[in-house]
Amino acid sequence: MPLTDLLPQLSLAEKAALLSGDGDWWTQAVPRLAVPAVELGDGPHGLRTETGKDMVWLPSTCFPTLSALAATWDRDLVREVAAAIGVEARAMGVHLVLGPGVNLKRTPLCGRNFEYPSEDPWLTGRLAAAYVDGLQSTGVGACVKHFAANNQETDRTRVSVEADERTLRELYLAAFEHVVHEADPWALMCSYNRVGGTYASAHPWLLTTVLRDEWGYPGLVVSDWDAVHDKVASVRAGLDLEMPGTGGRTDAEVVEAVRRGELDEADVDRAARRVLHLVDRAHPAPGPLRGLGHRPGDTLTPTQEELLGAAAHHELARRAATASLTLVRNTGVLPLDPSSPARIALVGGYARVPRIQGGGSAGVRPTRVDTPLDALSAALGDRLVTAEGYRVGASDYYQEQPVPTDPDSDEALADEAVALAAGSDVVVAVVGLPLAADSEAVDRTDLALPAAQVSLLRRLVALDVPLVVVLQAGSAVTMDPWHDGTAAVLLTGLAGQGVGQALADVLLGRADPGGRLTETYPLSLADSPGMPAVTGERGHVVYGEGVLIGYRWYDALDRPVRYPFGHGLSYTTFTLDDLHVEVLDAAAGRVRCAVQVTNTGARPGTQVVQVYVGDPESAVHRPVRELKGAVKVALDPGERARAVVELAGRDFAYVDATSGAWRREGGTFVVEVGVSSRDLVARAEIELPDDPGLPPVVRDEDLPTAPVAWAVGGDGPARV
Ligand code: GLC
Repeated sequence: MPLTDLLPQLSLAEKAALLSGDGDWWTQAVPRLAVPAVELGDGPHGLRTETGKDMVWLPSTCFPTLSALAATWDRDLVREVAAAIGVEARAMGVHLVLGPGVNLKRTPLCGRNFEYPSEDPWLTGRLAAAYVDGLQSTGVGACVKHFAANNQETDRTRVSVEADERTLRELYLAAFEHVVHEADPWALMCSYNRVGGTYASAHPWLLTTVLRDEWGYPGLVVSDWDAVHDKVASVRAGLDLEMPGTGGRTDAEVVEAVRRGELDEADVDRAARRVLHLVDRAHPAPGPLRGLGHRPGDTLTPTQEELLGAAAHHELARRAATASLTLVRNTGVLPLDPSSPARIALVGGYARVPRIQGGGSAGVRPTRVDTPLDALSAALGDRLVTAEGYRVGASDYYQEQPVPTDPDSDEALADEAVALAAGSDVVVAVVGLPLAADSEAVDRTDLALPAAQVSLLRRLVALDVPLVVVLQAGSAVTMDPWHDGTAAVLLTGLAGQGVGQALADVLLGRADPGGRLTETYPLSLADSPGMPAVTGERGHVVYGEGVLIGYRWYDALDRPVRYPFGHGLSYTTFTLDDLHVEVLDAAAGRVRCAVQVTNTGARPGTQVVQVYVGDPESAVHRPVRELKGAVKVALDPGERARAVVELAGRDFAYVDATSGAWRREGGTFVVEVGVSSRDLVARAEIELPDDPGLPPVVRDEDLPTAPVAWAVGGDGPARV
């Protein structure tokens, strides 16, 4: 019998108790009716489970963070990684994994960008749906977060996001909507921030009008931790589960409010039913791993390794890292020849202690870590010489001690590295952001690498020795003034515990770098969207750039960038030709795009074919182009394949704020195909009619003159 059938037997107090957690990680059990508790656990790129009174972190596989995993543009691989995370969750007895995060990278400053896939809603939604599919295929639930518009860490528990309805629906809600419809996640987590002045945890428009009435979402909505400010208002708005537990305090508030007629018991029943449904889906079973005990500092026993699948998952972490490494510049120095006697200088503390993940609740204690130093030493032996180059804090890969200021030490380390490099044939400098710069609850204030690293890179590019820069960061960084002097730049993102072997394999040509940028790398912070008050002030942040974030912004302003969205190089070359764009059903907006991809080089490699749509004439300003399809192909030398993308429905539409509805405005549309948002090799124009299913756009002259609330608040947008 489904547990939801027990609802009529529950007292009001028992139902109210179900609406908040038991401690930090559990739902409430109802022993009287044998309703078990369910365990929730972070995080998106690997499990963090705290065991025992010491809150010891059990080791688990640290996969590439979601921003790095997204750089693979490979839904199958994302699904495979998520399924592995599900296997580890089951071993640990966790029933709901608190991920993926699908918030968009509105500004490169956001400290949690490493946890988020992209600046683009289409790509974010597709990859997140694959993640949810993979995770839930193992019988473990996914909890998609943070709903909604949590795009900065600054003032995150209070700031009110002021955004118009079109911006919310076209960008910040779109990925959630896609995942809800395509992957049926067990849960969504509401965000800390306010939207239009109302906390997301008590936002009727978000939690009921949009999520339930429009999208028909049947799953559970859980709060972010301590994000509930008024439990009665939250239950009324559509929140189901408050985390963590409040020791009964807010349960009593709910009971009292029902008794006083301030809260409808039907609202309590609705939330309690969703909690019971979650428990039904979870089939709670204690994880075998947890029963084996674990003390601070313990490594995994062979039995624990086996239960976790640690060895196979480490290989998967390596493979995922390899597919995510993004080669953005190569003057021909890469790949290095592993058989050459050339002397290679490996410089940088992050080669010894690589940056594999960001900080905060997503942290994972890795089962093992491949370091670039170990992997390259094993491959090159005494042809590899190494120098620290700059100071890094002591790190156990999920915490990193800050580096005290000490210019003399920096200078000495740089002198040593420069001297070593000067006598080498190639220099590989591994640099990156410290953990504190890629962390929850903090945003960066600039996009620069640490000064000691910039200083070292300036000196290295001044040498007459080819310089390969390997950059480990969870979001975009600026590359002046060293960039133009480099021979190659390879971005690893925060690529998890397999990054060292992946880097060695790519640098030495044993693997092709498979990554493509999922966020734009601007030339400067000032060029990026929303500046200068991009994270707001006085408790408000205005999304005045509207739908123009990421490449949409740089394209609208025709602004040069360091590296565009979608960019990435292979070690081979490809051509895209013979584009065919066919309108299959004009009324439905069904269009098929096909292009031939040929590997014209001498090495196997992968290419990501991207399809963008533009609507040059419409009643509202629209982005120059929007990503609406992507296909990753792997080809041997001389091999060719046809990449086919089908467009339909909303791919040509925008949200008409006068009605809040998506609509396609008839006319000419441009379909472009390329390998980045700025490298478009073919285009076609098609004509599509007005979307017959929607009302005509209200003409400007017919719009009412009465001032209309612009930002969407808890009661929803004011209709014109
Ligand atoms: C944190 C994060 C959320 C995480 C939760 C539990 O504050 O915002 O992503 O899953 O709390 O740790």
